[in-house]
Amino acid sequence: MLASDFETFSSLVKTESGLAMMADKAYLFESRLQPVARKWNLAGIGQLAEALRTQRNAAQIRDVTEAMTVNESFFFRDAKPFDQLRDNLLPTLLAARSASRRLRIWSAAASSGQEAYSIAMVLQESCADSNGWMIDIVGTDLSTEILERARAGVYTSFEVQRGLPARLMSKYFTRDGEKWRIAEPLRRGVRFSRHNLLDDLAPLGTFDIVFCRNVLIYFDLATKSKVLAAVRRQMPADGYLILGAAETVLGVSDDFTALPEWPGIYVPVKPTMGLLPEHMTVSLGQAANLQSQYRSQLS
Ligand SMILES: C[S@@+](CC[C@H](N)C(=O)[O-])C[C@H]1O[C@@H](n2cnc3c(N)ncnc32)[C@H](O)[C@@H]1O
Repeated sequence: MLASDFETFSSLVKTESGLAMMADKAYLFESRLQPVARKWNLAGIGQLAEALRTQRNAAQIRDVTEAMTVNESFFFRDAKPFDQLRDNLLPTLLAARSASRRLRIWSAAASSGQEAYSIAMVLQESCADSNGWMIDIVGTDLSTEILERARAGVYTSFEVQRGLPARLMSKYFTRDGEKWRIAEPLRRGVRFSRHNLLDDLAPLGTFDIVFCRNVLIYFDLATKSKVLAAVRRQMPADGYLILGAAETVLGVSDDFTALPEWPGIYVPVKPTMGLLPEHMTVSLGQAANLQSQYRSQLS
């Protein structure tokens, strides 16, 4: 691949999705963009790069960006976050929100839906007392194609055997030919929509629990910090953030801090306006202190 074509593709996907591609990954452009070039009746990826430089066709840009996303996902990935959800986050938030009886949970890079449906299964299994509650589970992703799969809720045998306990598989999935279809109430209980984490997140509203997992690893440091700051703005002071096993806020963001008592769970550091008088500025240490005082008032 010509260096100039690599530059065209890598700067485009960086701007459009945040994905930072190093030169040693040029082969990924070669393999994934051939089908896009064919779709657009272009002779190869050289012509595709030329078209991107000269035409700025929005649909073509989207095709290239989506072709470069990594959509690997599976049910109950890493297990622990879902145990934390069941054992700690839900009991705490169900108590804290007992007046409003409203809870919003976000799978922020939802891919083909396994994470959001795992959350839905945890809720179904553990919240016997949630009758009369409005619990929103929202899954968003950059890729329209992968979201169609998520909305369908249909998985291969390999996908349902990966991470999903046999008991939950037989309880929530039915065989449909070669595939497995998720139970309709669970499917209807999750709303999927296209949203780019680099765009304004305000239209999504606020979320009490955010799963933002296995997407920041593809971003450079500045993009990770920017996305985490934006995610923070969509959370109340007592919300919870869950990252992927290889991701952390350490050295990346001052907006969140790890909760030592609940490994893998992050909480907002700075209280939102209204909890503190606006004129008060706080250091990171003071903010962490205030945060834990605020939490103990809630519990
Ligand atoms: C590896 S999957 C992670 C799926 C799931 N969170 C998990 O941990 O199993 C990463 C997802 O992030 C999405 N993605 C990448 N860049 C994004 C962006 N800027 N905004 C929203 N989603 C993005 C990709 O389309 C892909 O589906």
